[in-house]
Amino acid sequence: MAGSAAAQSGMIFDDAADEREPFAAYLTDDASQAAAQAVANQRGWSTSSIRKGGLAAALRLLGVAPPARFMIVDIEGLPIEEVESGLVELARLGSQVMALGTVNDVNYFRRIMRTGARDYLMKPVDADVLGEIFVRLEQPGDGVTPKGRVVGFLGARGGVGATTLGINTAFIMADKLSRRTALVDMDIYAGNIALALDIEPTRGLREAFDDPERVDQTFLQNAMAKFGKSLHVLATEEGFDDAVRMSDEKVLALADIMRANFDMTIMDLPRHFVMREPALFTRFDDIVIVTQLTLQSLRDANRLMKLLGARNRAAKLHVIANQVPAKPDVTVKEFEAGLETKLRCVFPHDPKTMTKTTLKGQALATAEAKHKIVADLHRLCIELAGVPEESKAATGFFRRRLARR
Ligand SMILES: Nc1ncnc2c1ncn2[C@@H]1O[C@H](COP(=O)(O)OP(=O)(O)OP(=O)(O)O)[C@@H](O)[C@H]1O
Ligand SMILES: [Mg+2]
Repeated sequence: MAGSAAAQSGMIFDDAADEREPFAAYLTDDASQAAAQAVANQRGWSTSSIRKGGLAAALRLLGVAPPARFMIVDIEGLPIEEVESGLVELARLGSQVMALGTVNDVNYFRRIMRTGARDYLMKPVDADVLGEIFVRLEQPGDGVTPKGRVVGFLGARGGVGATTLGINTAFIMADKLSRRTALVDMDIYAGNIALALDIEPTRGLREAFDDPERVDQTFLQNAMAKFGKSLHVLATEEGFDDAVRMSDEKVLALADIMRANFDMTIMDLPRHFVMREPALFTRFDDIVIVTQLTLQSLRDANRLMKLLGARNRAAKLHVIANQVPAKPDVTVKEFEAGLETKLRCVFPHDPKTMTKTTLKGQALATAEAKHKIVADLHRLCIELAGVPEESKAATGFFRRRLARR
């Protein structure tokens, strides 16, 4: 067998790629085995390649066959030098390895990641966390520099609900669409995200602006708060007297770093960014403008549409009407005529539900999963995530079939 001959001579298994098992796990505890089994079942992989034993067992089998394409390997209790040399070997032979251990230490994590392993997870892991990582590893591309999408949320005026809708969009994206999602509060002085989600603000964003070169995967892992399963939040509350110097270069670097590390980044933007950080708008795939149905909002939404449309012709602009009372100042029809664009969503003024969820420190999408706002945002998320619409795919299919006749 080509694979075993190559293994014995210490060659890299490039030409043996087709013989590889898609997946193997070498685990020592029942919880991790159950999680690996659930993930294998979801993907139709054989569970016979989930074996007892950790890294040493995985290395022993290298004498028989190339390592699997994806591996989960327990490294608990082994000296770090042994772990490093073993993981380097598996990565060199082309395996994407997730290491599981119990040491919670940044330097340890860095050493593991330098071996070429794709992730290091603390035990016990569950099927959800493992599943999320597989979704990321299976993204198209080279698998090393995944290319995410970056979406900006902006209010046409103050207090129209841009932050509320940004938070819920990010939550649905992470929770319902299983995208590894970052939610970034770009208002580092008076942003509301940490408060709304009842999480500790971190100094991550401040530090990222101070020294963008420091920002890498490890930095993000430490600087971001986790909300729910796969939503990562960067939200800072700096003192009003603490001037943070931003520059085009720094905000652009941040946008690019987020794109490289997350499937989806939602940036909640303070309105003065439109004047102060024009370059950032060139980086968005989509821009969501939130407005009320009033004359003042119509004027400002119009100005934003024109300005941002000219600044970034490739970005898709979506306008959402929010806090819409039963009898708005300007009707939907009048607003759309004035804006020369259809409203993407129209959301009712529902202070009762909003207050209830805010007081609980929850996203609307968690507390009121069936609310109209949540259902409509879910549809918007599918579009923002770049998933082709089913109807469009079907039309394309029929058109191709008809074209052949
Ligand atoms: N559809 C809605 N119905 C009722 N209240 C809402 C609705 N959407 C948002 N709110 C409430 O409006 C207030 C302002 O919301 P939010 O902070 O999201 O607005 P914003 O546009 O981000 O404001 P800012 O200009 O301060 O950034 C909050 O109290 C929020 O709960
Ligand atoms: Mg806001």
